[in-house]
Amino acid sequence: MPTVSAGAVEDLPTDRCVEIGDGRAVVVRVGSEVYAYRNECLHQASPLAGGLVRDGVITCPLHFWRYEAGTGTKCGEPELRLETYPVRIESGNVLVDLPAPPAAVSWREMMLDHAREWDRGDG
Ligand code: FES
Repeated sequence: MPTVSAGAVEDLPTDRCVEIGDGRAVVVRVGSEVYAYRNECLHQASPLAGGLVRDGVITCPLHFWRYEAGTGTKCGEPELRLETYPVRIESGNVLVDLPAPPAAVSWREMMLDHAREWDRGDG
């Protein structure tokens, strides 16, 4: 699980989601607490990066679904929850443990996989 630095706590804005880890996650600062979530809204998988954070609530920039900033649960539907990542603060710096990025696959491998799965319907 790679660890990504999000910089100093005091440098993180408190009013919006900040993208980290090549866009795979966002961090959200609420006071002195920092939370990290997968950068993907539960509605239509739009990035949450740049979404506003106000009164402890994240708002998706696309269609305005709202999530509790401290838990990642959707407001009014707590059974829906953003994927969370562990955050720790060391010497004032925010460190986030992200899942390993997906392995790179060549075009040739993707086409071969597609061909293997293709059902021609003649057999
Ligand atoms: S994609 Fe986030 S509210 Fe629609």
